[in-house]
Amino acid sequence: MAKPEKDGASHGGEPAKPAATPFIRRRTGLLAVVLIVGALAFAAVQLYQHPGRMTGGTPTMPAVGGPFSLTDQNGKPVTEAGFKGKLMLVYFGYTFCPDVCPTALTEMGNAIEALGPAGDKVAPVFITVDPARDTPEHLKEYLAYFHPRFVGLTGTAEQVTAAAKAYRVYYAKAKTGAAGASDALDYLVDHTSIIYLMGPEGGLKAHFPHGTGADAMAKKIRELL
Ligand code: NI
Repeated sequence: MAKPEKDGASHGGEPAKPAATPFIRRRTGLLAVVLIVGALAFAAVQLYQHPGRMTGGTPTMPAVGGPFSLTDQNGKPVTEAGFKGKLMLVYFGYTFCPDVCPTALTEMGNAIEALGPAGDKVAPVFITVDPARDTPEHLKEYLAYFHPRFVGLTGTAEQVTAAAKAYRVYYAKAKTGAAGASDALDYLVDHTSIIYLMGPEGGLKAHFPHGTGADAMAKKIRELL
């Protein structure tokens, strides 16, 4: 069987290897199909997660949020009822996240600060999608870097799954982290990166895509205070 060789095309004097061409074409065709299907699936997920983008006008608020039962960074059980009457700025992520989560948490903390005393009416909430590593103690230490009033929530895998489902957050453990597959506690988690602004009755008031700055968030929050 003729093997396709990487440098075959760069040597003009050599005859072409006929067996290699269809093999490569078939593989390229298959790859193209896989990429197209993947792109369509990605687009569908984006539209699902951002239904407001379809209208071109005022975004319609999808049914995001709802009941959850989790544990805070002090080990106390917390449900959505504990936030009634307050605005909630909610983000799902994990503390081992290399850059996306820290950026979002920084902007959230800065937005609360930008509101001044009125910021007391807003609860910044971080819900982990990695409860195996994000213990209450770990959340407490980590969140202190971003804002003193941050509420960090974790729970059992089932509790976290239920909360993520209520907020239409996708997450999935990636195979390996920086050190490779050898360390069972070294992995990345793919996840939706959207900051939700929930109203005093628990309904979604706005959502901010990744990259939204603190000032833009504070402006929107002020409209609701
Ligand atoms: Ni992250």
